[in-house]
Amino acid sequence: MDTLHTILNLLLPPLTIILLILFYPFYLLIKLVICLHKHLHFENLSGKVVLITGASSGIGEHIAYEYAKKGANLALVARRKDRLEIVAETSRQLGSVDVIIIPGDVANVENCKKFIDETIHHFGKLDHLINNAGVSHTNLFQDFTRIQDANPIMDTNFWGSTYMTYFAIPHLRKSKGRIIVISSIAANVPIPVASVYTASKSALLRFYETLRVELSSDIKVTIALPGFTSTDMTTPLFKEKFGSDFFLSESVNRCAKAIFRGIERGETYITEPYWMKFIFLIKNVCPEIFDYVLNYIFFRYGKPYFKRD
Ligand SMILES: *[C@@H]1O[C@H](CO)[C@@H](O)[C@H](O)[C@H]1NC(C)=O
Repeated sequence: MDTLHTILNLLLPPLTIILLILFYPFYLLIKLVICLHKHLHFENLSGKVVLITGASSGIGEHIAYEYAKKGANLALVARRKDRLEIVAETSRQLGSVDVIIIPGDVANVENCKKFIDETIHHFGKLDHLINNAGVSHTNLFQDFTRIQDANPIMDTNFWGSTYMTYFAIPHLRKSKGRIIVISSIAANVPIPVASVYTASKSALLRFYETLRVELSSDIKVTIALPGFTSTDMTTPLFKEKFGSDFFLSESVNRCAKAIFRGIERGETYITEPYWMKFIFLIKNVCPEIFDYVLNYIFFRYGKPYFKRD
């Protein structure tokens, strides 16, 4: 058995490089054809039932508006009932015929069961589940006052999505529906002072990639990897720490529109902004250089803001 590994260690590096050189152009050609096909075949979302978590603000709110414009019916979930009511009213004005709001917390498993049950009770089906609800933090890992304070981040970002998905699967199977998960670029690159957030987003990426295989073609899975976006979750934190929003932050409207276009086309991954894909590539091909640059930027610009002693 061990000999096999020695042989593979020797053989696979040159074989992979040869295969890449020979087949990558064909792969790209096939991808191009599929991409053109997807651009011509948008999913008809009129009358579809879409449940969105974290719909009271940010990316969730703006994705709701995009679905509303296409005439989808919405079940909006978040903790803040007053904010949900405003989002629901705007969605109706934009073209949603039927919108319900279900206030609650995705970190609570009973709440998640209720979100799905009430949606099915009202609409009789579920076509798209959008796992968007998330929370973040901006402190060094060592600066958590109590380490347990990191748990709620994982509870909302990771467990919240998996609970929702667990209860939704039987209904999505019936409708041949789609799960959309809002992960983050943080799933592919380290983001200092957001270590637990980063961990939760990487966990989502790998979890839904695994689920995509388990669910076969019954239920499709779209994984969105948005970059820095100006939302209620990030902008106030940046303003408090740096006095202004992050210079690489994208408007939430533009980000939500890009994610929505990807959903309509049935993409498996959506990276927004697109150029981040090339940062992922650099990170994978030369991780040491990536770490060096990240370290330099963080210690030069970020460190003074996070020093405690
Ligand atoms: C989209 O679906 C709705 C509802 O099922 C239907 O009335 C409409 O004609 C469809 N639109 C297109 C362009 O196929």
